[in-house]
Amino acid sequence: MAESMKGLHRSCRCAELSKSDVGKDVTVMGWVQKQRNKGGIIFVDMRDRSGLLQIIFEESDCGAESFAKAEKLRSEFVIAVTGKVCEREGAVNKNLATGEIEIRANGLRVLSESETPPFPIEEDSKTKEELRLKYRYLDLRRPDLQKNLILRSKVSTITRQFMAEEGFLEIETPILNKSTPEGARDYLVPSRVHPGNFYALPQSPQIFKQLLMCSGYDRYFQIARCFRDEDLRADRQPEFTQMDMELSFVDVDDVIDVNERLLHKLFKETIGVEVPLPIQRMTWQEAMDRFGSDKPDIRFGMELNNVTDVVKDCEFVVFKGAIENGGTVRGINAKGQGQMPRKKIDALVEFAKGYGAKGLAYIAIQEDGTVKSSFAKFMKEEEMSALIKAMDGENGDLLLFAADKNKVVWDVLGALRLHLAEQMDLLDKNEYKFLWVTEFPLLEWSEEENRFTAMHHPFTMPMEEDLEFLESDPGRVRAKAYDIVLNGTEIGGGSVRIHQNDIQERMFAQLGFTMEQAYNQFGFLLNAFKYGVPPHAGLAYGLDRLVMLMAKMDSIRDVIAFPKIKDASCLMSEAPNIVDEKQLEELGIAVTVTETEETTEE
Ligand code: AMO
Ligand code: AMP
Repeated sequence: MAESMKGLHRSCRCAELSKSDVGKDVTVMGWVQKQRNKGGIIFVDMRDRSGLLQIIFEESDCGAESFAKAEKLRSEFVIAVTGKVCEREGAVNKNLATGEIEIRANGLRVLSESETPPFPIEEDSKTKEELRLKYRYLDLRRPDLQKNLILRSKVSTITRQFMAEEGFLEIETPILNKSTPEGARDYLVPSRVHPGNFYALPQSPQIFKQLLMCSGYDRYFQIARCFRDEDLRADRQPEFTQMDMELSFVDVDDVIDVNERLLHKLFKETIGVEVPLPIQRMTWQEAMDRFGSDKPDIRFGMELNNVTDVVKDCEFVVFKGAIENGGTVRGINAKGQGQMPRKKIDALVEFAKGYGAKGLAYIAIQEDGTVKSSFAKFMKEEEMSALIKAMDGENGDLLLFAADKNKVVWDVLGALRLHLAEQMDLLDKNEYKFLWVTEFPLLEWSEEENRFTAMHHPFTMPMEEDLEFLESDPGRVRAKAYDIVLNGTEIGGGSVRIHQNDIQERMFAQLGFTMEQAYNQFGFLLNAFKYGVPPHAGLAYGLDRLVMLMAKMDSIRDVIAFPKIKDASCLMSEAPNIVDEKQLEELGIAVTVTETEETTEE
């Protein structure tokens, strides 16, 4: 039976009570975590988003009717309890915020009953994520997820506060947009009024925030939902949230300054972490050379070492061939891993192949100084010693080498470095290491498209000193682009924008656009720039990623209320779904392939 709230007012949340409230009459409401009936006395752990509270029912306090109801309570019933705050008579529970007190109930209402939930609502759930996602509304009752979403809300609130104090205006930008196929794949929305036409959901508010600068708003920010139809990973969702900003009359250092102060405030006021300022900066080139990654995790060393010069005259065809092909040979030193069994080393080789390596050469230096190596037989003894020396190899170390084009070598060793750090337990989630990665290449060669594409986006400003190479040697031009990296995750990125039409035209030319194509896609931005555009720059954080790291989670699903799974579907609502024939007709859409047909074909 579900009773009403009539005449009742909640006086506080469960865990807002403490010893200082002893003697007070309170009304609390929430869910039954657990009921234990000890004969004449019934204990109920009651839960709301603030935490747990112990309630005691004795017939002499609460009367026969309430006692009878208390006897029937089961997990997840929603109840209202009136009673008095007392010091706990039994053992004090140090693990509970309210562990020193209990409520002696003098009244109980059952606001709603519950079926037995498909899994217990408890911290550190062992239940499979799939089942929890299907019943996400129940999973969200668990204290760990509640903690995460409360943290996320705090981050948004503090950001809004900070941005307002710094003179930023919060402005919304449209969700139904024009498709501009540069970047990830768009999500499309068919137009009913314009049959055959589609809106695209925003991948980011980029163009609009630049237009707002043209319109004189000076400092903009928005907590904006973005949509990208890309392959999902632990730190990627098809819809995610950016903390997005744009500033006028600024250069790189100004953007970095505001953001360092924002990060400092956020970490201090949410999780009590003091971010040392200024945050370390590293150029993209240095990041790649030292860590094989444009988002290096600098919580540990194991840096890459370029040994091309050391091995350039050896007879080992793998090394020789790579160098002759314009590649390099680089290695990492996994300290103390020299005893790694052959099987595990083979697993590392397979791991490397997953990142495009043709193989992985190794030297395992034993504790007694003897050496096991996959390529020693191709090397002279002095070449081996020189290589070990160059790698700082000591007894007990495992040296791993990749030889290939730079990009492959970086990818392989960058990934291997992280993989080994995990195996060697070098990653401490309580440690927060921030890094600005700067001076990214402006352009990146796409083998697939056989043209240069923008590494950040087409509106990113080249570094002034490299502008002269834009046509003659586009690959070497660096951009005024920067990423903010935390513990090996790119939590944000941005750039100074091109505000000069002539440079923008040159950029489009390098991207293989004719001006006509450029105007077709971005005409409204290019036209806006004709009417007085301030120099401007900005940055956007992935809010989900930021909160994930603050909450020490492994996936952004743990900080998003209703996330999607790997195939971009929602296990709870079962989106996406097939729609009515009539809806399709109205939109002028004929579906040629349905998922069921696709699966039968396979
Ligand atoms: P960018 O594409 O680097 O820049 O995106 C900014 C930040 O958004 C986060 N992010 C994601 N988070 C979750 N799931 C995804 N699929 C996903 N994709 C990106 C990342 C990333 O650093 N308009 C520019 C910003 C600018 O130049 O001001 C932009 O969108 O943390
Ligand atoms: P092979 O002579 O092909 O058996 O290779 C000898 C060793 O070199 C093996 O340990 C291979 O895994 C390794 N190897 C092969 N290709 C590469 C490469 N591109 N980079 C580093 N090591 C490689």
